[in-house]
Amino acid sequence: MCGIVGYIGHRDAYPIIIEGLKRLEYRGYDSAGIALYDGTNLNVTKTKGKVTDLECRIEKEITTNGTVGIGHTRWATHGIPNDVNAHPHYSNSGNLVIVHNGIIENYESLKKELIKRGYSFTSDTDTEILINLIQDVKQKENVMLRKAVQIALNQIVGTYAIAVFDKNKPNEIVVAKLGSPLTIGIGEDEFFIASDATPFLEHTNNAIYLEDGEMAIIRRHKNIKIRKIKDDSLVNPYVQELQLNLEQIEKGDYDHFMLKEIFEQPHAIKDTFRGRLKTEKGIIKMAGVDDNLEKFLNANKIIIIACGTSWHAGLVSEYIFENIARIPVEVEYASEFRYRNPVINQNDIVIAISQSGETADTLAAIKLAKSRGVFVFGICNVVGSSIARETHAGAYTHAGPEIGVASTKAFTTQITVLTLIALKLAKAKRTISNSDYHHHLSELELIPKKVEKALLSDSHIKTIAHIYKDVRNFLYLGRGYNFPVALEGALKLKEISYIHAEGYPAAEMKHGPIALIDENMPIVVIAIKKGHYDKIVSNIREIKSRKGKIIGIVTEGDTIVKELADYVIEVPDTIESLTPLLTTIPLQLLSYHIAVMLDKNIDQPRNLAKSVTVE
Ligand code: M6R
Repeated sequence: MCGIVGYIGHRDAYPIIIEGLKRLEYRGYDSAGIALYDGTNLNVTKTKGKVTDLECRIEKEITTNGTVGIGHTRWATHGIPNDVNAHPHYSNSGNLVIVHNGIIENYESLKKELIKRGYSFTSDTDTEILINLIQDVKQKENVMLRKAVQIALNQIVGTYAIAVFDKNKPNEIVVAKLGSPLTIGIGEDEFFIASDATPFLEHTNNAIYLEDGEMAIIRRHKNIKIRKIKDDSLVNPYVQELQLNLEQIEKGDYDHFMLKEIFEQPHAIKDTFRGRLKTEKGIIKMAGVDDNLEKFLNANKIIIIACGTSWHAGLVSEYIFENIARIPVEVEYASEFRYRNPVINQNDIVIAISQSGETADTLAAIKLAKSRGVFVFGICNVVGSSIARETHAGAYTHAGPEIGVASTKAFTTQITVLTLIALKLAKAKRTISNSDYHHHLSELELIPKKVEKALLSDSHIKTIAHIYKDVRNFLYLGRGYNFPVALEGALKLKEISYIHAEGYPAAEMKHGPIALIDENMPIVVIAIKKGHYDKIVSNIREIKSRKGKIIGIVTEGDTIVKELADYVIEVPDTIESLTPLLTTIPLQLLSYHIAVMLDKNIDQPRNLAKSVTVE
């Protein structure tokens, strides 16, 4: 998972590519590089580190002239992050250069073949194999670049979004896509290439999203030609108008995207149910569900597949679907599901959840489910993403771009969509009483205001963060609907502060984790006044008698936990099934403030990337 950017037109390519790479750093940020053609020379600069490190090096090393170029920001797969493994990669002739997002699975056998044919390699990457394969085909078959790319790609097993440039054909960039995203921005006599549309948003609103198995030949002063990689047939380009605006992808007055996205949640949740939730009429409109209602109603079982935070949202919905719609639910890690031999019946349905819509494991799990003939419904944030296209039907979360690597608004908006579906099915199946149904709708409508209120605890949470920022371990406990929230809270802390944290169902504590508790262990307990409140109060007493430090997430006005806990953070009251939308807010803020105090890179935590497009 990397970001690629390219430009060909009448302007200087350098600033467009560099700024574009900065926008794509959420996709990878361990090394970066750029290739610019200045009319005579093909200048390549690359470095370990971030795009700002690349900028520093470029200022010292090369001229930044040229109206054509390609750039890359990397998340290492083959080969450690260093200058040599950074993209772009040259072919042995020095004429061809490539940037690549994806993985070439059969690179070892290709490499052996190429070595036999006299090629040598300087990096450990699979990408260098690909560019030399293209060069080899080009020479052997005596074909032009686009044909060589096409023939080479037909020998590749794996995934890719690539941009290839030939110094001897400087008015052309060839791009191709399979399994990794690629977008082409269409300007006035200029073209932009990027992994998503954000790098060219201020230059054009018109974009072509390349489909899997397609390549595009982008020529200066000419129309774009799109072809199928498999058989070279021509495809009609479909130019879309982008619905994004610049404000959505900039930090504004916030220090970090993560903080901006935490504070965007009231708005994001509202956007998720806007046009869907008609509280007064008692209706929930969701085209993807309405059109397939019979399948949902006849479902023996719902299998939810997802990774990371999206998997946690799936776990929350397990409680909602089972409690109100009485449909059995299994929540599976996509990465496990895809390699099992799962028992799937024709009447089961699969729901795949993914913010990015590009997660490789989730995509593979969807393909497995589809091969078993079941209906697959997708819940994604990124419009037009691979998962949105691969599923039979779906619902977008409409959360707006999430750029911070740690998911925040994705989680709450995914739960919102899942809740809407569960309520819709419960009503159709009559597993919920009329009054309960209407109560749920009106409570859901109040959630954005209540999230706003929960956010008011920010400075109080900052004080608590200051007290615990130096500990090395945290425990998070919750029960029922809030057990997955405990998992999510622990994940947030681990991801951005690198403090070890574990989430547990509160009652499981006594089956092992209780051994960890001493006066140095902070335990975040979600202890809202719902469900098994009394039980969780007992769990808190058990912790206190072992001197553990309690940070309680409690319902406004709670007095019992307040007496027992070292600190409490209040959230507004709501019905139990919606509490995760509120209890998760203080946990996001707690991790955020701890990580800021520890001086960690909030939006780009080490070793991570926003969308995991490799296994
Ligand atoms: O884009 P997806 O929702 O499919 O991503 C799944 C996970 O990679 C993602 O949630 C990851 O765990 C986040 N970094 C969590 O904050």
